[in-house]
Amino acid sequence: MANEPMKDTPESPEKQRPKSYAHAPRLPEGPVTLTELVSGDGPLMLEIGPGRGRFALELCAHNQTQRVIALEIRRKLAFQLDDRLAQKGYGKRARCFAEDAREVLPRLGPMACVDAVAIHFPDPWWKKRHAKRMVVGDALVNEIARVVKPGGLVLVQTDVLERAEAYNPRFAEHEAFESLGSPYVDESPFVPARSNREAIAIIDGLPVYRMVFRRK
Ligand SMILES: C[S@@+](CC[C@H](N)C(=O)[O-])C[C@H]1O[C@@H](n2cnc3c(N)ncnc32)[C@H](O)[C@@H]1O
Repeated sequence: MANEPMKDTPESPEKQRPKSYAHAPRLPEGPVTLTELVSGDGPLMLEIGPGRGRFALELCAHNQTQRVIALEIRRKLAFQLDDRLAQKGYGKRARCFAEDAREVLPRLGPMACVDAVAIHFPDPWWKKRHAKRMVVGDALVNEIARVVKPGGLVLVQTDVLERAEAYNPRFAEHEAFESLGSPYVDESPFVPARSNREAIAIIDGLPVYRMVFRRK
């Protein structure tokens, strides 16, 4: 009897929290004006697939006016990053939304409103059969070309050479972009901000294939 579980014990708020993270922030329906989602007039970074969000947090920490909009497909990660940005006091100028970037980018605007785009280690899958799920496809590159300002930079980095070789021509051969590497660059234009995967790759001594493209 003494070892029976207590059935009526109220659960802690942590346990009551819905597991689905259905309350993760989402973008409004229909066309979305990105500049209305964050306030201020600092540079606007669009990050695709922030994961645990180190890059967005560090960008905001290093630049008091930096604005960030991050799109993360995993609701739990999106909720946690958005919450963390708010807790750090960056919530008005930096947000993370639980969205599939490939689906929502076509309804984001206006044209040429974003100063930079960062896509760090986007595809956790590296087998050939996973290629169709690749985030950096031609459609995504076209949408990025639409929202980035002339002169704006796009950073794409990965530790998988095969992926880098697939991403590079999508931007480098696109009429709207010019590559700033040959094809890779030694360092990210956004240091000291690093993504979680980037920081781990550096510690582990793994090669990081960084590509930077400028919007013509
Ligand atoms: C390998 S993780 C890298 C996370 C982070 N960028 C880093 O470098 O530490 C890839 C991230 O992209 C997210 N992701 C994958 N496909 C996505 C999509 N279509 N839209 C938004 N996020 C996506 C994943 O959920 C995951 O968080």
